[in-house]
Amino acid sequence: MNATSQPKLSARGVWKFYGPRNGQPALQDVSLDVPENGFVTLVGASGCGKSTLLRTLAGLETHDAGALQCDGHAIAGPAPERAMVFQHYSLYPWLTVAENIRFCRRLSLFARNRTSADVEAASGRADALLQLMGLAHVASHYPGQLSGGMQQRVAIARALMSRPRVLLMDEPFGALDAQTREVMHDLILHVHRLERTTIVFVTHDVEEAIYLGQRVVLMAPRPGRIDTIYDVPLPAQRSQDMKHSPEFLQLKRDILARIRATSGMQTDLELLEQLSREARAA
Ligand SMILES: Nc1ncnc2c1ncn2[C@@H]1O[C@H](COP(=O)(O)OP(=O)(O)OP(=O)(O)O)[C@@H](O)[C@H]1O
Ligand SMILES: [Mg+2]
Repeated sequence: MNATSQPKLSARGVWKFYGPRNGQPALQDVSLDVPENGFVTLVGASGCGKSTLLRTLAGLETHDAGALQCDGHAIAGPAPERAMVFQHYSLYPWLTVAENIRFCRRLSLFARNRTSADVEAASGRADALLQLMGLAHVASHYPGQLSGGMQQRVAIARALMSRPRVLLMDEPFGALDAQTREVMHDLILHVHRLERTTIVFVTHDVEEAIYLGQRVVLMAPRPGRIDTIYDVPLPAQRSQDMKHSPEFLQLKRDILARIRATSGMQTDLELLEQLSREARAA
């Protein structure tokens, strides 16, 4: 495989058990490639292993079999090149917005005994990120004074501070209202273009998955596995009105139907119908 075709992230036959190895795997034989500067979204019923896959890619979780690589090197633990953003913003409430964004960099500067020029360069990056995320006017505010959307922008800016090549996002907009989410979608697409980051993004929201992703990976539960990978038939440059296009709506219907079919929900509904029929007949 040559350098240009080497995926940024790759999973090959990955297995993960939380319990005994003869039990239900959280990940069963998962294989996935994410190209450099790709934007891949993961959807699927609750418990299908989306967070587990993301955390193993982050190196926060070990796996039991198979290979996980970033740039062709085995993932053996967390690294600054792979940053995580979670649903809950996890900001330091006693630090201002600007201090929250600079915090991790400051720690690593102390740790590695860097020079004052490095500190200055980091401040420049922090200021650029404050501008990029539309946070300059609240730089001296504390997280408690900000809306949820703004807090999540601070968390994303902080994740971007170390110039990660990969952003791993676990339902980052799950706690936001629909309007704020739309704004965040266009913002994250802008960040993706500008920083040329590779993004893997977990969501429950199929519309969000299609709007953001170049590829949507549908996972299924019990055992956790990849069921289907959909290529999104939309231009690279997205706009909100594309959500009403026939291609978008058809893909959304297909994915929702497949999630229902793989989640066991369909069986539950059929069982409920059968029970009501029996109750009526009795
Ligand atoms: N730390 C853990 N210890 C034991 N089992 C776990 C742990 N984390 C996850 N699991 C189990 O592994 C499976 C996959 O969980 P995971 O959190 O990856 O699913 P998910 O797709 O992210 O679900 P959700 O959509 O609800 O966030 C589930 O059956 C879950 O109960
Ligand atoms: Mg999860």
